[in-house]
Amino acid sequence: MAQLTLPKGSSVKAGKVWPKPDGDNIREFKIYRYDPDQGGNPRTDTFFVNVSECGPMILDALLWIKDNIDATLTLRRSCREGICGSCSMNVDGLNTLACTKGMSEVKGVIKVYPLPHLPVVKDLVPDLSNFYAQHRSIEPWLQTKTPAPGTEWKQSHEDREKLDGLYECILCACCSTSCPSYWWNGDRYLGPAILLQAYRWLIDSRDEATGERLDNIEDPFRLYRCHTIMNCTNVCPKGLNPAQAIAEIKKLMIERQI
Ligand code: SF4
Ligand code: SF4
Ligand code: FES
Repeated sequence: MAQLTLPKGSSVKAGKVWPKPDGDNIREFKIYRYDPDQGGNPRTDTFFVNVSECGPMILDALLWIKDNIDATLTLRRSCREGICGSCSMNVDGLNTLACTKGMSEVKGVIKVYPLPHLPVVKDLVPDLSNFYAQHRSIEPWLQTKTPAPGTEWKQSHEDREKLDGLYECILCACCSTSCPSYWWNGDRYLGPAILLQAYRWLIDSRDEATGERLDNIEDPFRLYRCHTIMNCTNVCPKGLNPAQAIAEIKKLMIERQI
């Protein structure tokens, strides 16, 4: 039978159990901790949160822990209303935004991990450098060749509506880091988030670089690693459909050969 060996230092150990606060309304959290400066394995610490003293969302509880128990707990957040995409993490086994995920949606112990299959900078903060470099590689800005109009690039209401379901993407990376193809080939496959962004520019009626954009992503790895597993669409906290956007790109590839 084949035997798998985990890389040294990669297994997650049981960590510290922090004291329980007073109160009747207590929820238990198990939270991934990793500090590269200290070395050693990652661990999961157990915290008890007095949920009567904080708001109802997972992010509220994490900030309560920072304020009341362990100020070194490290996470990203900014808007706390599902707009900035900073607080994406894995809660109860699903990638989501901590600020829009209610504690009431999770039964029992609430397990919180960083987004999967990315290097961890510290605790709940993943390294998104590759993700952002991939975003840069699709040149996500309007590209035109005809002389600029005097006022603005105009668009009909019908053409503007084609961007619905795409412009709302907040680049939280929940979809890409739930995609098995991205886990195994994230260095070469662009993943659902970046491909949805690519499609957003491909179908913008004002953009005049469609051919170059298609050339840029027509590649066995950059585009065609999507095998329609659909994890991406199932997990998107904004209710978007990256798998559909990828399918539309593949259609454009075929249409331009006809
Ligand atoms: S498509 Fe959804 S899950 Fe993916 S990056 Fe955009 S908002 Fe996040
Ligand atoms: S549909 Fe494609 S991009 Fe989405 S999870 Fe599956 S393989 Fe990944
Ligand atoms: S803090 Fe901005 S999306 Fe959660």
